[in-house]
Amino acid sequence: ARKIIIDTDPGIDDAMAIFFAFQAPQLDVLGLTTTFGNVPVELATQNAISLTEIAKVNVPVAQGVSVPFVIAPRPHPDFVHGKDGFGNINWPAPKGKAITKSAAQFIVDTVREFPGEVTIIALGPLGNLAAALILDPEVANLVDEVVLMGGTAIEYGNVSPVAEANIMNDPHAADAVFTAAWQVTMIGLDVTHQVLLDNSILGRIKAANPVEGGFLYDCAQHYINFYSSRFDMDGCYFHDASTIAYVMDPSLFGVELGAVRVSCEGIGIGQTIFAPQGMEFPEPHWNNVPMTQVCMEVDSEKLLTLFETTLS
Ligand code: BDR
Ligand code: CA
Repeated sequence: ARKIIIDTDPGIDDAMAIFFAFQAPQLDVLGLTTTFGNVPVELATQNAISLTEIAKVNVPVAQGVSVPFVIAPRPHPDFVHGKDGFGNINWPAPKGKAITKSAAQFIVDTVREFPGEVTIIALGPLGNLAAALILDPEVANLVDEVVLMGGTAIEYGNVSPVAEANIMNDPHAADAVFTAAWQVTMIGLDVTHQVLLDNSILGRIKAANPVEGGFLYDCAQHYINFYSSRFDMDGCYFHDASTIAYVMDPSLFGVELGAVRVSCEGIGIGQTIFAPQGMEFPEPHWNNVPMTQVCMEVDSEKLLTLFETTLS
């Protein structure tokens, strides 16, 4: 099975992604690392531990960064994920505790333990990945792949006309991740806005798998209400869990190669700027930027079937 670390800010769609990964026989989850984002980091850690306890999966949880590298923290989006990050369902506090290592240290140590074998799946702002690069720059060459949910190449943003929330929450960290020597695959709004998860799918998963499925169904009601009141849709977009589908079956996605950099100030702050492979620019910002795989197409029906069958 493919070894993965999930870096996360749970988060309703983070919970979907984590249960999806726990159930996938192709994946071996080595640990969860937490970041601020949808909720403060302490709550993200509690929530990550709750998810391991609900799924009865014994993996370490390491707490990470609480604030962005440079910019001032943005407010937590409780109108999207609820104040508790789980859609205000009053879930009890977990019994377990985080390990004493920081998220960045856990990433470095785990990648060093299995050189070339670990894929990092990032579902929140990218501070822990940037911190791991600072702790040990060599990790970039020792990771199998970084698959992140964030950004957008050509689709509109979701927190500004050009910015997606995870990137906006820490643009400097994101730029460090896109310009490091590892293979990055970006699953952004270009594809996650093409996939619609609705209550009929969640209802079937709940019927087949009352524990994880029931939990996801209950959390998702707040999330679906947000999406259906904000946009003319009957369900929610499929953000974080798309990364798990990608790692399980990359053939579900159509990918373009290009340089990605992140705008770190001004009205375009948080934008992932995409320069397709082959385009050359004289500006030094675009010299020797590594190629990112940017997902532009997705087979939505097959992806949702994979999610449903894996969780059922
Ligand atoms: C991303 O932002 C968060 O609210 C979600 O969990 C997802 O990671 C979508 O823009
Ligand atoms: Ca997330």
